[in-house]
Amino acid sequence: MSFLFWKRKDRQQSLYEKIDLKRVPTHVAIIMDGNGRWAKSRNLPRVIGHRAGVEAIKEIVKASSELGVKVLTLYAFSTENWKRPADEVSSLMKLLVEFLRKETKELDDNNVNMRCIGDISKLPVTCQQELHKSFDITSNNTGLILNIALNYGGRAEIVNAVKAISKRVKDGTLKIENIDENTISSFLYTSKLPDPDLIIRPSGELRLSNFLLWQGAYSELWFSNINWPDFDRENYYRAIIDYQKRDRRFGGIKD
Ligand code: IPE
Ligand code: IPE
Ligand code: MG
Repeated sequence: MSFLFWKRKDRQQSLYEKIDLKRVPTHVAIIMDGNGRWAKSRNLPRVIGHRAGVEAIKEIVKASSELGVKVLTLYAFSTENWKRPADEVSSLMKLLVEFLRKETKELDDNNVNMRCIGDISKLPVTCQQELHKSFDITSNNTGLILNIALNYGGRAEIVNAVKAISKRVKDGTLKIENIDENTISSFLYTSKLPDPDLIIRPSGELRLSNFLLWQGAYSELWFSNINWPDFDRENYYRAIIDYQKRDRRFGGIKD
């Protein structure tokens, strides 16, 4: 092993020691952004950036399990990403299938429970089949929930919820006066999950890009200039350390 490898391990270890393991965020959500720029800066095609982005997922999933994070939501494809050239969209779908075929066994061995949010019925059939296989294989696992946001958009999610609630009102099974915030939450893709405590966005963009709009109302946000394929344990630990320094008031005041 090289000197640089040990140096990196050393840095990781000293950051790890700064994390209070009793106050690790329950739900971390990550906007995996910057694959294209990562590739461009190396004069490589965008798809190579996406491939490198998939590689980066593995380490962060492992680190999440080890830290005791309960839910890791990864924004992989937004409702707006269909606007991209057809060959990029199809490469992304192929990479998803490849990831599921290659990684499901190890994720299952690590007790990871795979799920998704978003309308996956619009994805290519092979993607849907592989996703359902992975969900079925890992459905009884009790460890980290790995929640992949695919064809996900916060606004589309809220529109769907409004339609489903309206239908209930129309057929008389729900009274308008009984609709509250919990009702809305219960009609979202995330109905059974806690809201994200921490939303991480690498790549230097300072926006949510339609991610978890309802659920993120009181999430702590963490941004970094690093592109997603370079996002590693060190960055992840830094995000969690910063998160633990935040004062989450939820609109209240300190005693
Ligand atoms: C994120 O990387 C991956 C997806 C949105 C699918 P990008 O492809 O958005 O990379 P940049 O933002 O162009 O660098
Ligand atoms: C957000 O990134 C979506 C994902 C990472 C999957 P985008 O690259 O699509 O977002 P914008 O276009 O920069 O806002
Ligand atoms: Mg982007």
